[in-house]
Amino acid sequence: MDIIDVLIQQHRDLEALFEAYRAAPDDERPELCVRLAEALTLHSTLEERWVYPVARGVVHGPRIDFAVEEHGEMTQLLSELMHACWDVRRREATVRQLEAVVAHHLTEEERDVFPRLRKMDEAAFGLSSTELARSASDARQEARRHLEVVAPP
Ligand SMILES: [Fe+2]
Ligand SMILES: [Fe+2]
Repeated sequence: MDIIDVLIQQHRDLEALFEAYRAAPDDERPELCVRLAEALTLHSTLEERWVYPVARGVVHGPRIDFAVEEHGEMTQLLSELMHACWDVRRREATVRQLEAVVAHHLTEEERDVFPRLRKMDEAAFGLSSTELARSASDARQEARRHLEVVAPP
């Protein structure tokens, strides 16, 4: 499995989490909100740390700028979401906004960015897919720590 496969699997996991959130009863939504925030923080962190610096060199034109802008938008919504998981009104509005941005972003990334990166050697990313998975567990812990700070008493 290469780095792009790892990221695409994370995209499918994110979609499944949004779907689970929509299907869940109200009392299960705060926990799913936390899982969503965690998974998205993890994914964005990995891409920003390891993938986008390489993508900038091979994907030219406005596509990559749009993708970077969307990451900025997601980061802003994510920090809002981390404080909104236990506040039903803020949470519902933020999850809805975030789902729209994420759905659009994943589609474009898989269409315009990832195919160009597939041709590259893993060495270009500065790490292997195994190391990326290891880095994912560090990023997950970071996301958890941040979420603990904003969890209710
Ligand atoms: Fe992305
Ligand atoms: Fe992505």
